[in-house]
Amino acid sequence: MSQPDYSGGLSLAEAQALVGDREIHRMSSNENPVGTSQAAVDAMVAAAQGISIYPPRTDAHLRSQIADLHNVDAAHVYTGLAGCEVIELAYRALTAAGDNFIVCPPTFGLYYLMAKRYDLTLKEVPLLPDTFALDIDGILAAIDDKTRFVIVINPNNPSGTYTTDTEYKALLDRLPEHVIVMADEVYFQFVSAPDYPATTDLIRNGANIIRIQSFAKAYGMAGLRLGYGIAPPQIAEQMRGLMRPFHVNSIALQGASAALGDTAFVAKTVASNEMGKDYLYGALDAIDVRYWKTEANFIMVECPVSSAEMTDRLLHKGVMVRDPKDAVIPNCIRVTVGTQVQNEAFVAALTVILGELKGN
Ligand SMILES: Cc1ncc(COP(=O)(O)O)c(C=O)c1O
Repeated sequence: MSQPDYSGGLSLAEAQALVGDREIHRMSSNENPVGTSQAAVDAMVAAAQGISIYPPRTDAHLRSQIADLHNVDAAHVYTGLAGCEVIELAYRALTAAGDNFIVCPPTFGLYYLMAKRYDLTLKEVPLLPDTFALDIDGILAAIDDKTRFVIVINPNNPSGTYTTDTEYKALLDRLPEHVIVMADEVYFQFVSAPDYPATTDLIRNGANIIRIQSFAKAYGMAGLRLGYGIAPPQIAEQMRGLMRPFHVNSIALQGASAALGDTAFVAKTVASNEMGKDYLYGALDAIDVRYWKTEANFIMVECPVSSAEMTDRLLHKGVMVRDPKDAVIPNCIRVTVGTQVQNEAFVAALTVILGELKGN
């Protein structure tokens, strides 16, 4: 089984080429099935009308809106062209060849790319079996003088499980000062668990954490490529120092600004996700398929065959899901919580495939 990668999975056109004319439900990239805030779309269309003009030289206005949302000073905030760049800026600014960092598989493939690109050693400390909780002792034991980051994806992609406030504090309390926690929280809006950690409060109080956010998920703007980080002020300043003048384009600045103002859209997205989760939990229980309760907008589902085989079988029944390609979970796929139509299509396809496998 290979390491997870970040090739991003098949595009709809590539999938369509494989399966011909049949309708395909795209439940592979954790995109927002509700779409995008209409206010944001309107703002982007208006910005496009003025695209002959340069954007403001800095993102100061957007940063102050983000700071208000999270109740921090704008000095803590930096933006980047999507969550991926927000993460990469931290690698560019804060690592040197030969350093190392810790990931906790099953995990998000981008971090493997960062190790290659920046000539770093990636140390794997798998999440604990079954519960997918952090192995805090294992993480602490893996840290040495050259460790720069511990990556804590919360809720985790692809398991959908989460790290509690208590677990977070247990890690931070024993973390050496030279190590930064990369709190990758791009799915945080979907969380309902009451003991989810308030990392921004920890950062405000001086913790060595960089919190990663994206407009791709709850804001439904995966195609826009915008994200932001919340970090100790000196780190955020270093990141802003890496940005080119006019780094964020006018359409993204206007769209993101309007999206931040449309809290009703995010609430609608979260409500749709909750409904979808409830439906999928019930339907998977009914066909006796194991899954993990999720705090995100996707569910990890166990299969009687390899993740690669199940992903392929589902695609040929018109449902795109993600093969996490993670050695820790060779028999699990990740399915995005979709519209009711998509969720039903997934369950129907899975039911047929399980029947076919039993018949074999
Ligand atoms: C855990 C995690 N972090 C970061 C990202 C990157 O987000 P973006 O699409 O904004 O680059 C993703 C995207 O799927 C993700 O799942």
